[in-house]
Amino acid sequence: MQIGFSVPVHVVDSNLSEEFLETLKKDIYLVRDNDSGFSISNNHGWHSTSDLFSRKEESFRGVCSNCASSIASIMKSYDENFDPESIDARFAGWINVNPKGGSNMIHSHPNSHWSGVLYVQQPNDVTGNSGMIEFINPNQEGRDLARILPKNGFDPIMRIRPKAGQMIIFPSFLLHSVYPNDSDQDRITIAFNSLLLNKK
Ligand SMILES: [Fe+2]
Repeated sequence: MQIGFSVPVHVVDSNLSEEFLETLKKDIYLVRDNDSGFSISNNHGWHSTSDLFSRKEESFRGVCSNCASSIASIMKSYDENFDPESIDARFAGWINVNPKGGSNMIHSHPNSHWSGVLYVQQPNDVTGNSGMIEFINPNQEGRDLARILPKNGFDPIMRIRPKAGQMIIFPSFLLHSVYPNDSDQDRITIAFNSLLLNKK
């Protein structure tokens, strides 16, 4: 079979330890105490300044390095000859803290190639769609095929509830939204965009 058109959503294990994630969480709350944040796609949640990749904290530097290596690995999975050294990779990253009721409206990430989300804290005691990210298939015409071939890439939407420590990486053009958090525990994520420019 040759796949003509498809949109990948990569779910990868960041391999960041629970201890690291705890330190990261503490640093995130410290940043929040000094950053009133932005209102972009977030409803009732805090969205930090998008300067994560220039911050000096060891925890954030570790995450940013992890994001960069994950993008390089994914590029290599498509093209074994991909050389990260040949690319000027530009990253922008930010933090989302969604308390109870917090969600993100449908959006995409323009002017980027790959976008990603690291789940730092994901409440487990949830019901319904809480904690899920929903992707919209750019080809809605596949919905009829999806009725007889579900979960084969034709479905109009795809929902995932990633676990803490997991990272999802997807093409930046892919529309997505985040369901309201129905837990008393915050949902904490780090999101990033990457733009891969050829050095030559
Ligand atoms: Fe997003």
